Amino acid sequence: MSDTNALKRQVARAALNWVEPGSVIGVGTGSTVDCFIDALKESGIRLAGAVSSSERTAKGLQAIGVPVLDLNDVIRLGVYVDGADEVDPQHCMIKGGGGALTREKIVAEVADRFVCIADGSKAVSCLGHFPLPIEVLPMARSLIERKCRDIGGVPLLRSGFVTDNGNLILDVRGLQIADPVALEREINQWPGVVTNGIFAIRRADVVCLATPSGIRTFDSGQMVQL
Ligand code: 5RP
Repeated sequence: MSDTNALKRQVARAALNWVEPGSVIGVGTGSTVDCFIDALKESGIRLAGAVSSSERTAKGLQAIGVPVLDLNDVIRLGVYVDGADEVDPQHCMIKGGGGALTREKIVAEVADRFVCIADGSKAVSCLGHFPLPIEVLPMARSLIERKCRDIGGVPLLRSGFVTDNGNLILDVRGLQIADPVALEREINQWPGVVTNGIFAIRRADVVCLATPSGIRTFDSGQMVQL
C-alpha cells in the first residue's frame, strides 16, 4: 500500500469520532471516502442510514449494509464526511476531482457539521493549483469555456465523463483563488453552470488531515496549517 493510501485509511478511521451510532449521516465521494466506508464496516457502528453524494458511494454503503436514504426524506444530518482536492487555512476547499461536486454541495448544506478528511498533501495556502471543476449543462459548454477564459482560466473538458446528473465537467487551470467566496458566487451565476467546486460559502467545520507524524484536527476557527 502506498504512503498516501495508508494516510487516507488513517484519516478515514479518525472520522469515526464524529459518527454517532444510530444516526443518519451524509457521505461524500472519492478514494478517501471509500476508506471511510471500509472503516465504518470494520468499526461495527450501526447507522440508521446515510445520504450519499454519488452512485459510487451509494453502492459502497449498500455493500456494507447501510440503508441509503433519499435526501428529500431527511430534514437534518448531524455530520457530513467527505474528502477534498485542496483545503486552505480558512477551511475553504476545492472539490469535484471525482465529479460529484453538485450532490456533495447539496448534501453538505443539510449537515450540521462538515468533516473534511484528507491526507496532508491537500492543505494549501491558496486554492487554485488543483484545476477547479465546474459542472455544466451540455448546451452551455462553450459559453462557460469562454467565460472561464475571460477570468484568466484555462478550461479543459473532462474527457469521456458524464456526471451522475447527466452533465459535463470543465476542469479549469490557472486560477489563483484569493477570494473563494466571491469566485464561488460569481461562477455559480453563469447561466448553464450547475455548480462549481469551490466550497467556501459552506466550508468545512472540521478539517482532519493525516500526516506522517499523525492526525491533525482543526476545528472551526482554527487555521489549517501544517
Ligand atoms: C469528489 C471529491 C473528492 O472529495 C475529492 O476529489 C477528493 O478525492 P480523493 O479522496 O479521492 O482524494 O470532491 O467529487
